[in-house]
Order: sequence, then C-alpha cells, then structure tokens
Amino acid sequence: MQKLYYGAAYYPELWPEAVIAEDMRYMQKAGINCVRMGEFAWAAMEPHEGEISLDFFVAIINRLHAAGIGTVFCTPTPTPPIWLSHGHPERMYTDNRGYPMAHGARQHVCTNNPYLRERGRLIVEACARAVGRLPGVIGWQTDNEFKCHVGECCCAECVRQWHEWLEARYGTVARLNDAWGTAVWSEAYERFDQVPAPMATTMGHNAALQTMYRLFHREKIAEFQREQVAIIRRHSDAPITHNSNRNFLLDNELLLRDLDFASFDNYPDCDHWQEMLLDYDLWRNGKAGRPFWVMETSPAHNGGLWGYHKPHRTGYLVAEAVAAYASGAEGFSHWLWRQQRAGVEQNHGAVLSAWGTPTVGYAGVLGVSAARALLEPVLLNSAPAQREVAMTYSDRARAYFITEPYDVGQYIPLARRWFDVLLAAGLPRDLLFEGAALDGYKLLTTPFVPYLSPEYLARARAFVEAGGLWIAGPLTGGRTGEHTVPTDAALGALEGLAGVETLYTYPLTNTGALGVAFGQAAPLTGWAATFLPTGAAAMGVLEGGVTPGLAFITEHQVGKGKLVLLGALPEGEDGAALLAAMFRHYAAEAGVAPALETSSGTIALPRTDDTGLFWVVVNMDGWGGTAALPAPAVDLLNREQFPAGTLELAAYGWRAIRMV
Ligand code: GAL
Repeated sequence: MQKLYYGAAYYPELWPEAVIAEDMRYMQKAGINCVRMGEFAWAAMEPHEGEISLDFFVAIINRLHAAGIGTVFCTPTPTPPIWLSHGHPERMYTDNRGYPMAHGARQHVCTNNPYLRERGRLIVEACARAVGRLPGVIGWQTDNEFKCHVGECCCAECVRQWHEWLEARYGTVARLNDAWGTAVWSEAYERFDQVPAPMATTMGHNAALQTMYRLFHREKIAEFQREQVAIIRRHSDAPITHNSNRNFLLDNELLLRDLDFASFDNYPDCDHWQEMLLDYDLWRNGKAGRPFWVMETSPAHNGGLWGYHKPHRTGYLVAEAVAAYASGAEGFSHWLWRQQRAGVEQNHGAVLSAWGTPTVGYAGVLGVSAARALLEPVLLNSAPAQREVAMTYSDRARAYFITEPYDVGQYIPLARRWFDVLLAAGLPRDLLFEGAALDGYKLLTTPFVPYLSPEYLARARAFVEAGGLWIAGPLTGGRTGEHTVPTDAALGALEGLAGVETLYTYPLTNTGALGVAFGQAAPLTGWAATFLPTGAAAMGVLEGGVTPGLAFITEHQVGKGKLVLLGALPEGEDGAALLAAMFRHYAAEAGVAPALETSSGTIALPRTDDTGLFWVVVNMDGWGGTAALPAPAVDLLNREQFPAGTLELAAYGWRAIRMV
C-alpha cells in the first residue's frame, strides 16, 4: 500500500461544467483523493449505436489527476442505452413468469444476451483504450454490483445456454436424471432441451434443478466479467475489482479469481455496525495479500423514492472508516459525491447537496479525512495481524438455503448470527470463502454448509490432522453436490471422520428439546442431526423432546487435532450463551491467544509492524467504552502513555495503542 484512499462515486456526465469545477474544488477541501466513475454512463459514451467517444471522461480524469485525485474507472455495462433495448424484448432480463423487464432502470438487459455481450465488449474495449494508460486511473471496476436487482433470468437465450451447461456438466441425460433423482414425480427427461428453467410451477421444482440453475447463472455472470477483464488487461496495468455485495446472487470466489483486489458495498445504518465489521473480516481475505476496498457506503443515510434509512449518528462515520482502514482497507469510498437531482435515488445521502452545499453527512466526511491522514503513516507500515480463528463463508451454501431454508431462515442472517457469537466471545476472526487456505489458523468453524465438497473436506481434514480444531455444523454436511440427501450416511463423508453415527435427522423446532452443554442449556431449533457417538465423546446432550439422551455436540480426536460436530442450532439468548461458552472452551483448548478485552460495542483490531503487535481500538456503538490494558500502553499517534488497567474511549472514539 502506497497510500490510503478516501473516495466518492462521481457522475460528472450528469452536471454542467460550472458544477464540475466546483466539485473538484470541494473534493480537495473535503480531503477526497479518489473518485469512482463511469459505471452508468454508457449512453453518455455511446449516445447512438457505434458513435463512441470517451473524450469527456479522459478530460475529467486528467483534470482530477492534476488536482491530486485518482480515478477508479468502471465499465458501463449495467445500463445499456435505449438503442440496445428498444423493440427487443428478447434481449431483456426475463423473470420466472416470462415477463421481460422494461427499459428505464438498470440491469434490465440480460447479461447472457449475445448482442449485449457483443456491444459490451466494444464499449469496454473503447473505455480501456481511451483511459487505460492515463496516470490518473488507479484502478478499474467491472460493471456495478452484479445482480443487485435481478435474480436468475429465464429468457429464451438463458434457457438455451442452460441446456448447454447441463450437457457439459452431466454428459448424458441419463446421468442428469440419476443425479437429480428425477424418477420422483415422473420428472425424468429424455433430452437436455426438455429440462425447464425454474419457471413458475405448481408446488415447486426439484431441489437439484433449483440449485443448479442458480449455480449456472453464477458461472455465467463470472464469464461475463471474465470477458471484460481480459479486454481491460490488454490496455491497462491498473488493478481490477468488482464492487460486490454479499446480498446478491453471486459466487464471489469465482468472480474474485479474475480480479486483482476485492471490494464491497454495504449500507447498514449506525446501529448495525456489526454488518460492516463482518464485511471487513470477509473481504480482507477475498484476495490474499491484497488490501480490500469499501467501494460504497453512505456518508449519512441510504435512500431512494421508496424510503430511507435514518442518518448515521454524529461521529459514527469516523469509527466506521477507522475500523475499515485498521481492518485492512486501502480505500473507503462513498456513494455518492453530489446528491442526484433526478432519477430514483434523490433521497440518498451524499457529500454535497444537489445545489452544492455541505450535507448532513459533511462533518463526518471531514472527520474521516482527518482520521485517514493521522492513521496513514501507522497503517502503511503495518498489516492486519494473522487471526487464529477462521469461519468459512459460503456463497454456495447461500444458494442451497434459498432452495431449502431448513426452518431456520436464510444463510446471510445465519452467518451473521454466528459472526455475532464470535464477536461476543472476543475472538478476532477471519471469514474465509470456501477455497481459502487454512494455514495459520488454530480454530476453524464451518456452520451452515449443507454440501462439503471433497476438496474442502480434504483441506479441513489436513488442518485437523496437523493439530487444528474444527467445529463443523450446524446444518453442515447433510446434502450432496446435487442437492440430494446422501445415502451412505446422513452427513456423508463428514460422519465417519467425526466418529459418530447419526441416528436421526428431523426438525427440532417446537419439540421441547433442550440442548445441554458447557454448563449452559438452550432450546434447539431447525433441521437437526442427532448422534450416537461411536468413537467420539458426547459434549452436548438432548434433554426432553423426541430423542432425549442423544448427543448434539460431539468431539473426536483426529490426528493431532480434534473434530467437533454440532448437530443442531441453539436458539435465542440462551443459545447464544451456549455457543459463546462452546467457542471459549475450544478456543482455549486450541491455544488461541487472548485478544485485547473490550467492553461490548467497542472493538480491538490487531495489527503487526516491525516492533510487533498493536491494536486499533474503536468504539462502534456510540456509547463510549473501555479496553482492559494488560500492561502499560502507548498511543502510537500522540505518544500518550497509559498505565495497565482500564482505558476509556469516548463515544465513537478510537486509538492505536501498543502494550509496552
Ligand atoms: C448500490 C449501487 C449504487 C447506489 C447505491 C445506493 O447498491 O451500487 O449505484 O444505487 O446502492 O445505496
């Protein structure tokens, strides 16, 4: 990292020259040192088919550069112009009832449409040629938030490509029939071209068909991005990212394979700061060895014609940005610079108003600029410390849960619940996509991953054999790669490794079953696996309900390490307490080093430099907080000294401190 960036999304194509000149002056005043530009400007770049000019953007990028402001340039493919969509319903995104979308919003054209792809390649090439070597271009962003408004398109072209995809995956239709179990309900197909997309139907499509259609579309959007990346790379050395978002229907790991750095967008209000923290812990690991960016978040509040969030409380924005930088962000960027005067997002928080004055968020922006400047020397000479606890975050599991929510809801809130337990247990953690290496960790947790791929299982097994502690479950391992039920054992290959026999899988919700473990008791909920330990020891046992006496937590020595199996989800506050007790128990057993203890609502982010470990402590909840200093400490920014004991932080206060 050469510097820390503070940026905003900028739409100069929407404003006259006088406003642009004012913008540039104001950006310098506000401490903005980069902008992101171009993602919705296809019609400005190519107003009529084939008439492409990037001159306007080249001039703006050069002027910004002269003012010390870098540009992340975007490919404009989320907003195809009217000449591409008008009179062509077959090119439009089509929902599962067969309705094509109208022109007027974004992502309205199907990204698998061959003509969109063709024109897309041309405009991306024109962009890359025009701006790719400008000194002001510090990076690229592909498109904008793939799938932010759309799910899986069901247009005729998508269905045709779906058939090709199926043929490539299964080879023969007999194999597909067998893998999906299409003998059920006489679904069996005679040819690939008979397999429907999951269009509206009576009771519901075969689980395999539903999940595979999702995976198909995820691969296709990654292919769409890959085309763009290849073109950009021919004309530019600037690093490429995509501003992703966990809430959209994507395989982020697949997208990241073709990118140089990870970035994400999220817009929680200040009361939901844990959401941002989860993202920092995840995207930091999106591209190993490369810092991440917060590409979009509001300076104040999210909003559109439909309504808005409340604005952040005074002071929050600085805490959010400091936590991002200290977590490993190189860039922190707002949507958006100047309030829209038109469109559907006029109500969205911005840095400047549409009439050119500071907004309700502006003081926060100045605060972030000041904090960025203070932090920069300390952060450029250090890096996030290696975490010892890892949690697998699975986009594939997310697809499975949409098909089958197991009576516990969707993957994203479940993952968040797990994250909150780790946070409450005071364990600094990394969230890892499924394919990530497990080196350097002592404790791995894999909750809510119905399908464990053979590669994942092999990696986790090697981790345990070498001495790691792996907590698998709940709801992990009970489905195959085709979203069917394993027929060798309830949890497939995981089960043998865990030294248990799963006697029953069934829904525990409202059965009165209580889970008792680690000195805690909590109701259990959702789809569960109940165990008879064979080689393993029972660590948590069911009381009451339908199968009292069976285990729901077991532990089993495997090589030098241990595999802990969790068969059911403890519910509510008691459940959270049970899980926190479990994590504290196993973190101690795995030898996880204790973190700097903080009061709840205050966080401690570990970093290392040549001298060793230090912590950036931040009060996130706005109520002030404390950190328990185990030894005398020094503030790395102003050299203030503190004795061992309680360090007080003001509301949204922060410090970089090292024990001495
Ligand atoms: C993002 C999107 C931006 C803007 C923003 C508003 O999802 O990328 O273009 O719409 O939301 O919060």
